[in-house]
Amino acid sequence: MKTNFMSGIEGKVVVITGASSGIGEATALLLAERGAKLVLGARREDRLEALADRIAKAGGSAVYASTDVKRRDDLSNLVKLAGDRYGKLDVLVNNAGIGPISPLDELRVKDWEEMIDINIKGVLYGIAAALPVFRKQGFGHFVNTASTAGIIVKPNMAVYAGTKFAVRAITEGLRQEAGDKLRVTIISPGFVRTDFADSMTNAEMKTQILDTMDKMAISPDAIARAIAFAIDQPAEVDVNEIIIRPTAQG
Ligand SMILES: NC(=O)c1ccc[n+]([C@@H]2O[C@H](COP(=O)([O-])OP(=O)(O)OC[C@H]3O[C@@H](n4cnc5c(N)ncnc54)[C@H](OP(=O)(O)O)[C@@H]3O)[C@@H](O)[C@H]2O)c1
Repeated sequence: MKTNFMSGIEGKVVVITGASSGIGEATALLLAERGAKLVLGARREDRLEALADRIAKAGGSAVYASTDVKRRDDLSNLVKLAGDRYGKLDVLVNNAGIGPISPLDELRVKDWEEMIDINIKGVLYGIAAALPVFRKQGFGHFVNTASTAGIIVKPNMAVYAGTKFAVRAITEGLRQEAGDKLRVTIISPGFVRTDFADSMTNAEMKTQILDTMDKMAISPDAIARAIAFAIDQPAEVDVNEIIIRPTAQG
């Protein structure tokens, strides 16, 4: 499975949140194929175990830990696992996220809170866990998954878009504070074929999103390739933002 040329990915230790499906899973598989050592986090431990097995069987290396990004300690433990098992941390991919979209009039306040807790606070807890490690090491790379919804606001997506605008703002702020040793990348995907609609509690919205995904969504492998591109660059090259949409997305 491993490629036999040295790359900017070979040997890097990469923590990925939301690694149990979709973009996170595809990214783990691609980076493992290119020689990275993976530390996988998400809540569904059975899926992480299966993914780690798959990576190991293909000749790669991966460990995992049940992680709820709503809990700061879980992120600290995940980052610690990277150090304990592999002796360093090169990249944190803050990817876990949900999108239970709905009109504001429906007052689905629980969904709003979940999106804020997972999409914004989860990313902040990731930063809080990895930033001191990166500072101590003198190297490190944050890759944060935002969305095209973090660039354009559409009806029914106010809160989701708000969380993704926040991710982009926080990530850009982090980049400006990062100094000359740490790299910071925003990944902004459009429609991607994943389990993303599973978190949607409004049946009409869910059907609409699934229909759009059927029509135009791209493979999560496309996002994985973009993440791999950013990681692969030499240390002095910081890829700040990549927007990847289906060609058919308006
Ligand atoms: N699909 C799209 O069209 C699209 C477009 C733009 C941006 N995005 C963004 O891409 C990222 C990944 O989503 P996806 O499309 O790959 O959807 P997905 O297949 O549903 O994956 C979401 C991942 O997040 C994890 N997750 C959710 N809540 C979590 C929590 N509290 N703690 C830890 N992990 C949690 C899930 O794992 P567990 O359930 O096992 O915890 C899962 O691994 C998200 O940030 C999403 O906003 C997606």
